[in-house]
Amino acid sequence: MNTTVVCGPSSIVLFSYLRPLTLFPMAKILVTGGCGYIGSHTLVDLIENGYDVVCVDNNSRSNPNILQGVERITGKAIKNYKVDLCSFDDTHAIFQENPDIKGIIHFAAYKAVGESVEKPLMYFENNLGSLMNLLKCVQEFGTPWFVFSSSCTVYGNPDEQMVTEETPPKPAASPYGYTKQMGEQILSEWQKACPQTSVILLRYFNPVGSHPSIQIGELPIGRPMNLVPAITQTAIGKLPQMTVYGTDYDTRDGSCVRDYIHVSDIAHAHTLSIRYLEEGRNGSGCEVLNLGTGNGVTVLEAIQMFEKVSGQKLNYVTGPRRPGDVVAIYANNDRAKERLGWEIKYGLEEMMDTAWKWELRLKEDKQLFQMVNAQLN
Ligand SMILES: NC(=O)c1ccc[n+]([C@@H]2O[C@H](COP(=O)([O-])OP(=O)(O)OC[C@H]3O[C@@H](n4cnc5c(N)ncnc54)[C@H](O)[C@@H]3O)[C@@H](O)[C@H]2O)c1
Repeated sequence: MNTTVVCGPSSIVLFSYLRPLTLFPMAKILVTGGCGYIGSHTLVDLIENGYDVVCVDNNSRSNPNILQGVERITGKAIKNYKVDLCSFDDTHAIFQENPDIKGIIHFAAYKAVGESVEKPLMYFENNLGSLMNLLKCVQEFGTPWFVFSSSCTVYGNPDEQMVTEETPPKPAASPYGYTKQMGEQILSEWQKACPQTSVILLRYFNPVGSHPSIQIGELPIGRPMNLVPAITQTAIGKLPQMTVYGTDYDTRDGSCVRDYIHVSDIAHAHTLSIRYLEEGRNGSGCEVLNLGTGNGVTVLEAIQMFEKVSGQKLNYVTGPRRPGDVVAIYANNDRAKERLGWEIKYGLEEMMDTAWKWELRLKEDKQLFQMVNAQLN
């Protein structure tokens, strides 16, 4: 496999491709944080739907090798600008080189809730500084479509379990959550002043699983804080045991309820969002959509499904409630289905099955596994 390294505003890595490029690609989409978990799955979905993609990622929280997996699935070369979006000059240079960018999907951010409590300034600076720089470029270059990665954390601890986009946000539980609330506010206010750009704010619930090809998946940093990587890492023996925090909540089995959604379903909603903006079907300049399945699943039910699909008995214990945990939250996803024509393809079984197969793949693929450990832990 040939690999060409080209020098540009920062280093640009152009991986080789296995099949010829499409002769007439559709609009060019800049995917920030494209080497990350959701970004890499979205690159695949965009390419499979004919879009031309450019990736920017400083790999502060990811491994660039993941793009090789994207290439194996799609047969397309991915251009990644290894640029920190907190550098305005480097970000601006990407737009200068690609003045034909039509849409931005902005994933790049830090996302560890606990770390954000310890290092709030780092989170505000990275998550909001990168957004400001991008928006300055979008404004200057007149980029028409902007999709923002938001989160159900913006709802805080809501009064109702099933939240609609109209459910009033409560105070965020962490500086990370505030960066998402503030990011939404910044985009909403900015868009009123810059109506040439249409914005969609996508509030993700709990993305899990990996691409069915098992060529790409999640690479958690350090001890995973999310349930599914904690389950798979315990089952494979990376973690000795896991704890279910709180089994005395007012839920059907006492454990917390979450809305798990397959990452490829989340990824496809981004392609549909771009198409929605491209076709001018948006009713207002800034719209917000929940991305969840609409089904609440308890932590214990998720574990049972994992045990069923993997045939592994999970070594877990039950512990006390964890401060700050929301008891139960799941999405009303009617709006995303109606407006985008979004249909959910994968159920809990496929979420757990692909997550487990990806964990097995990481064990087999020592090179990828070691690099991730060396770079990120
Ligand atoms: N995964 C989830 O559970 C979840 C839930 C809700 C919302 N989100 C949001 O979705 C987005 C993507 O999440 P993910 O799970 O793919 O995260 P991820 O950490 O896997 O990917 C984020 C990527 O952004 C890159 N990045 C961070 N700061 C950057 C900067 N200044 N310049 C360039 N690149 C930078 C990282 O290197 C990483 O590759 C994030 O904004 C996250 O907050 C994620």
